[in-house]
Amino acid sequence: KTEENTALPGTLEAARAEARDCTRCPLSCKATQTVFGEGPDDAKLMFVGEQPGDQEDLAGRPFIGPAGKMFDTIAGEVDLDRKHAYVTNAVKHFKYEPRGKRRIHQKPNMGEIRACRWWLKLELDLIQPKLVVAMGATALTSVMNHAERLSDYRSRTVDLDDGRALYTTVHPSYLLRIPDEGRKREEIDRFREDLQAIKSLS
Ligand code: URA
Repeated sequence: KTEENTALPGTLEAARAEARDCTRCPLSCKATQTVFGEGPDDAKLMFVGEQPGDQEDLAGRPFIGPAGKMFDTIAGEVDLDRKHAYVTNAVKHFKYEPRGKRRIHQKPNMGEIRACRWWLKLELDLIQPKLVVAMGATALTSVMNHAERLSDYRSRTVDLDDGRALYTTVHPSYLLRIPDEGRKREEIDRFREDLQAIKSLS
């Protein structure tokens, strides 16, 4: 099937069902399943991550592994309830390299981000959030449709062409990888401030 001869799914449920069989890029070959976004179909706030991780790939739900737990904890500290937001990823299949029994996360490339952007755009069109939050550079690149530097957008709101607002912050898995405890605390504080700003904007 091509974009040209396929009617666009008119509801989120139809989109989710169609995405199950997506073969727009080769990542579908190795991943367990498509991990589509989840949340209310009229959410005013949409969070976009990078791609499902190991646990999300197995469970079929976004942000339920370590990065999701970090996100939920800090969101809870500012009273931001994830249940009211739509949570999705720029890329909907887990990209990894097997290493022994482990599956090691690999960053999606531009071609994979572009291929999967079709789904993100559909989610944006169907849900019509007022505020889109890009968490990390992959999400930012997908929303902006070209490679962007996170540091140019971090903690700022910009107006998108479609009338929506975009706010950019780091990806929660970045926080998990910071080895130095002091720096980690500082970065978590900054992420909390971002989530507080998102809460007041939404
Ligand atoms: N990282 C992401 O970007 N998304 C998930 O769903 C999980 C981890």
